[in-house]
Amino acid sequence: MAPLTGRMTTVGAALMSVALAVVVVGIRWLFATYAVPLAADQLRASNGRADESRCIECHSEAGTFRDTGHANTLSTARTGESVELLRTLNGAVAPQDEGTGISIRRGKPFVTFDSPSGAGKLPLDWCFGSGRHARTWVATMADSQGATDLLEFRWSWYASIDGFDITPGQPDQHFGTYLGPCGVFYDHPKARRCFACHSTYLPIDDGRLRFEEIHPGVTCQRCHGPRADHVASEGEIGDDFWQTATAEEAVNRCAQCHRRADEVEVDEIRADNALLARFQPVGLVQSACFKASGTLTCTTCHDPHRPLEMQDSLGKWQCVQCHDPSEPAHTLCAAGQQADCLRCHMPRVQGDDPLRFTDHWIRVR
Ligand code: HEC
Ligand code: HEC
Ligand code: HEC
Ligand code: HEC
Ligand code: HEC
Ligand code: HEC
Ligand code: HEC
Repeated sequence: MAPLTGRMTTVGAALMSVALAVVVVGIRWLFATYAVPLAADQLRASNGRADESRCIECHSEAGTFRDTGHANTLSTARTGESVELLRTLNGAVAPQDEGTGISIRRGKPFVTFDSPSGAGKLPLDWCFGSGRHARTWVATMADSQGATDLLEFRWSWYASIDGFDITPGQPDQHFGTYLGPCGVFYDHPKARRCFACHSTYLPIDDGRLRFEEIHPGVTCQRCHGPRADHVASEGEIGDDFWQTATAEEAVNRCAQCHRRADEVEVDEIRADNALLARFQPVGLVQSACFKASGTLTCTTCHDPHRPLEMQDSLGKWQCVQCHDPSEPAHTLCAAGQQADCLRCHMPRVQGDDPLRFTDHWIRVR
């Protein structure tokens, strides 16, 4: 079902843009600044959820966690870093997008644009991505029923090029519609999905995303469930999911967002499909290491409580856990290699945009 890019198809986007042009007059009012007050800790502590600033009292994990990609994967567009990066877009867009720029008013970034159908200004509300790999901005707006729709900005910032390029999944040439220079429009179900994978808590009211109560980022209680009782009981009440899950259950929990193998078309699961690398669980479960060990999970190699660069993840220790030359029962490298395992068996590969991913389908190439 899910297209490999995880984004909308070009045809779908074109139809959407046309539909949008038709209703332009109707949605002009939406360009008024949409203020999004951020959640106070009282709100974060609602619905059985604990205030996560409490976790550090008993768990040192919380100290390193705040610098992870998960913790920072969603913020308002008004944060210093977001605004600073957006400013560098001015003068840097491709020729066909001349007329697109960024202006900052009272700390809030706006896209200013000029298209064959008219000029305008659109406020950007949210910034997706921690910036470790990329950032994509979106504007949110209410449809006629009050449900939250989303416009995904046409330009994303990429760490690998330290600059802007077209957002993954968007066409190289925009459609000359009113909002074409700003990006691609997504209706409510898709808008909801973006936020669902990039936040811990976001209540929905008749299709309206209640941003005033959002807990942005993938944080403790997204992976560990609501913890109000746990904190109140000083750890007495817990949850043993991660201790008792099978390898498959554990991988699938991470795959809620990193994508499960059964969400990808069977004929797309091929060793020569480089796009697969962006969905780590899909590749991992094809590996002989996963199938034959019965114990390999994401946390065999990753500590979700530390930033990737603090994890020594480029070492060979993960492999040596099961391919140890001093263990007679282990299968060793048939090429006789004793180091640098990732280079040959788990390399980084380039997808269809400036992003590179580590191919988690561990195999002989
Ligand atoms: C609620 C959705 C969600 C779940 C569940 C989730 N992730 Fe993620 N993960 C993300 C997002 C979004 C990012 C991108 C973070 C960013 O913006 O840099 C990410 C990034 C990562 C990264 C890259 C970090 C970096 O610094 O580059 C690793 C590794 C990772 N996740 C592993 C896991 C593991 C292991 C699990 C399960 C224990 C898991 N994730 C569960 C959404 C999720
Ligand atoms: C099914 C869950 C899911 C949905 C839906 C989703 N994302 Fe993500 N997103 C992720 C995960 C997982 C990552 C981390 C990818 C990685 O590093 O392997 C990520 C990463 C990102 C990044 C950072 C780039 C990177 O690779 O780290 C941006 C920007 C982003 N997403 C924006 C969006 C936007 C905008 C939408 C909606 C149009 C969206 N995402 C929808 C799960 C999702
Ligand atoms: C991306 C998912 C994810 C996030 C976010 C996350 N954890 Fe975890 N956590 C895990 C997994 C998976 C395990 C089990 C690790 C294992 O099996 O090795 C775990 C284990 C733990 C443990 C038990 C450690 C042990 O050695 O028994 C504690 C305590 C913990 N997490 C606290 C936190 C706190 C506090 C936060 C937020 C600051 C947090 N976690 C955020 C996935 C996550
Ligand atoms: C007052 C101390 C205290 C606070 C505050 C606290 N915990 Fe714990 N936590 C504990 C104790 C005690 C254990 C049990 C340790 C054990 O079993 O070895 C525990 C275990 C855990 C575990 C592993 C077992 C399980 O139930 O999954 C996780 C995950 C965890 N805590 C998450 C959190 C999160 C998230 C927060 C913040 C919202 C938090 N804790 C706040 C005391 C605390
Ligand atoms: C056998 C070890 C291993 C296992 C198991 C593993 N990873 Fe990784 N992963 C790595 C290595 C190595 C990197 C690259 C680290 C770096 O660049 O610093 C990586 C990088 C990542 C990244 C960053 C983006 C990328 O593709 O480079 C994400 C996200 C990620 N892993 C998610 C997962 C998830 C989700 C699982 C479970 C389905 C998982 N990993 C299981 C070794 C592993
Ligand atoms: C949890 C244990 C475990 C870990 C960790 C692990 N493997 Fe494996 N791996 C296995 C098992 C079991 C097999 C199957 C061996 C056999 O057939 O005798 C295997 C098979 C392989 C194969 C052969 C693949 C094929 O298709 O025939 C390669 C290559 C390999 N592993 C490389 C690695 C590398 C590189 C790492 C580290 C990034 C790694 N493994 C981490 C358990 C593991
Ligand atoms: C220079 C590239 C290279 C490096 C580095 C490398 N390998 Fe290999 N590996 C290969 C090749 C090629 C094969 C297949 C050889 C054959 O079948 O004749 C292989 C095969 C394997 C196999 C399958 C063995 C079998 O009998 O089925 C395992 C397991 C493995 N390697 C593990 C590792 C581990 C662990 C490391 C790091 C310590 C590593 N490799 C480093 C190239 C490499």
